Amino acid sequence: MNEMTELASICTSDLTQTAGLGTGPVSCEPYRSPAYFERERENLFKRAWLTVGRVEQLPEKGSFFTKTIEIWNAPIVVTRGSDDRIQAFYNVCAHRGNQVVLTERGRASRFSCNYHNWVYRNDGSLMGVPDEANFFDLDKKKCGLVPIAGAFAGGGGILR
Ligand code: FES
Repeated sequence: MNEMTELASICTSDLTQTAGLGTGPVSCEPYRSPAYFERERENLFKRAWLTVGRVEQLPEKGSFFTKTIEIWNAPIVVTRGSDDRIQAFYNVCAHRGNQVVLTERGRASRFSCNYHNWVYRNDGSLMGVPDEANFFDLDKKKCGLVPIAGAFAGGGGILR
């Protein structure tokens, strides 16, 4: 061992001890534990910004694209509304949880759930409910697609 290698070894050892770290093997449990992964999904990935697409994917009013965010285990739809505003929503019907938008991309001013035909505007608001009179206490303002915080900047879109 030459002088430099010995010096580096001493410094590394001192730093390890100073930081309170051991030199034994590191547990591999975090890499294979489903419970650990679920905690990581909830506490890390649901709070972190994730890239979902680019502005070019929404070239005109009414453009949309869908995607499944695997780490969230959730389908989303990203739209450019008639007011040119880009928004993202969970692609889940407020009625019974059916996936509302089934196509990958396109242009639409409204989306119709194919289960019981609830209709949403591309800004996420609930527009129509068949047989609405029989849904007592239905507040359509509270039954839109659930928005996801997001930002589109520099051409890229991120969500959390
Ligand atoms: S689940 Fe969408 S309309 Fe019923």
